[in-house]
Amino acid sequence: MDTATFNKRIKRVVITEEEIRAKIKEVGKQLSKEYDGKPLLVVSILKGAFVFMADMTRELSVPHEIDFMIASSYYEGTVSSGVVNIKLDLAHTDISNFHVLILEDIVDTGRTLKDVVHLLKGRKPLSIKVVTLLDKPDRRLVEFNPDISLFTIPDYFVIGYGLDCGEFFRNLPYIAEYNTEI
Ligand code: IMP
Repeated sequence: MDTATFNKRIKRVVITEEEIRAKIKEVGKQLSKEYDGKPLLVVSILKGAFVFMADMTRELSVPHEIDFMIASSYYEGTVSSGVVNIKLDLAHTDISNFHVLILEDIVDTGRTLKDVVHLLKGRKPLSIKVVTLLDKPDRRLVEFNPDISLFTIPDYFVIGYGLDCGEFFRNLPYIAEYNTEI
């Protein structure tokens, strides 16, 4: 993609760097209190959550380990097959001694996280919680609600801060609306 096209695709900034930073600090404090004294494993779903993961873990003042997954769900129409396609599984083979905190970039239909949570619950962690940077509740196709969402947005496609369109735009330091009109 050439730079002129790249720039034209960024329609407008929806959430600024400063707004993201402030919210992550606030939630980071809340989570640090909640997990104080508990064995914590922070898991992020790649690739979209990599920036959020990097910023959020640095706002956690309590000791914790990190791990990554690449996962997507198989669906027939709106019905989940209940099977998660794991392209990369956790490096931790045993999570039964951890409180698991999943960091996700965006909850859209809810399919991915519903299935990932189901899968990880089966591995018997001490607890499991989902924190998403963005939530698009209008798009939900399955029953799933994150425990914490930093920002709720209407139904439009967003890019930046880890989120992509065709693998580009992850590097934008803010969340922007994607311009579909060009
Ligand atoms: P879900 O399983 O439908 O909830 O979708 C989860 C994945 O779809 C997210 O982790 C994103 O990678 C992708 N996704 C959904 N909405 C957007 C968006 O507006 N921008 C970029 N990626 C999105």
